[in-house]
Amino acid sequence: MHTVTTIDGLRTARAGLAEPVGLVPTMGYLHEGHLALVRAAQERCESVVVSIFVNPAQFGPNEDLAKYPRDIPRDLALLEEAGVDLVWLPTSEVMYPEGFQTWVDVSEVSQPLEGGMRPGHFRGVATVVAKLFNATEAHFAFFGQKDAQQVAVIKRMARDLNFPLGVVVVPTQREADGLARSSRNVFLSAEERGQAPALYRALIAAKDAYEAGERNAEKIRRVMLGTLAGASLAQVQYVSCAHPETLAELDTVSADGALLSMAVYFGKTRLIDNLVLEGQ
Ligand code: PAJ
Repeated sequence: MHTVTTIDGLRTARAGLAEPVGLVPTMGYLHEGHLALVRAAQERCESVVVSIFVNPAQFGPNEDLAKYPRDIPRDLALLEEAGVDLVWLPTSEVMYPEGFQTWVDVSEVSQPLEGGMRPGHFRGVATVVAKLFNATEAHFAFFGQKDAQQVAVIKRMARDLNFPLGVVVVPTQREADGLARSSRNVFLSAEERGQAPALYRALIAAKDAYEAGERNAEKIRRVMLGTLAGASLAQVQYVSCAHPETLAELDTVSADGALLSMAVYFGKTRLIDNLVLEGQ
């Protein structure tokens, strides 16, 4: 496994990779969710590149960039064991050299949900992902359904800017009790961790209601809120029943189906989760 930092180092190592090349962009502190993306990339591609970069541009002023968990030696050991070919660890100076001033703004899909709560977040994500696509010249890039709006933003960007690359979405990896795997889960206290599966239970309850025939989006949101109310430590930021591509809130779930999503605080830890209701 090669490990590179600079753009020149990346280009040299990339030139020696068998094609097609798959890219798995990450911010490190890897867990089973990230490793599922690596496995999906290995199934589809001859070589796999993983990038690890805690992207300052996607953190808001009140979000603690400095506290984002990091453990590069452990990450590298996991990637080596997984059989990854190349790891790119750019520094902030490599990504955003002095004078940097070009940003990618996916204007509409970035607005609701996470974008509403985290202004500027998706501009930072879209910009860094565009740079990762260009620098690695990957043929496919792999993203988790866990971050559903991120997937919608990146797919739109890839189409709008004619990136010659396929975006592949991998299902959300969960703990045995349903909690979506996340680097942030380490911040939960034992009691919060015990209640955190309420997010997934709320999504399943809403899906059950949908499968039983419920199409009223507000009633579906209320089903989710009802389940979350049972978790005394949960502070709901939003629950959503939105169009799966535009992410606009729905009145009625149509044949296009819907994206159910939510953001919930447990103490200072913000958890997100989602589920797609397939159109019928
Ligand atoms: P990060 O949070 O490290 O996530 C990297 C990738 O892993 C994302 O595509 C995310 O959706 C996926 N992922 C995280 N948890 C997952 C889970 N439980 N199951 C399946 N996939 C999961 O997302 C980012 O980094 C950044 O925004 C990035 C795209 C790297 C741009 O900076």
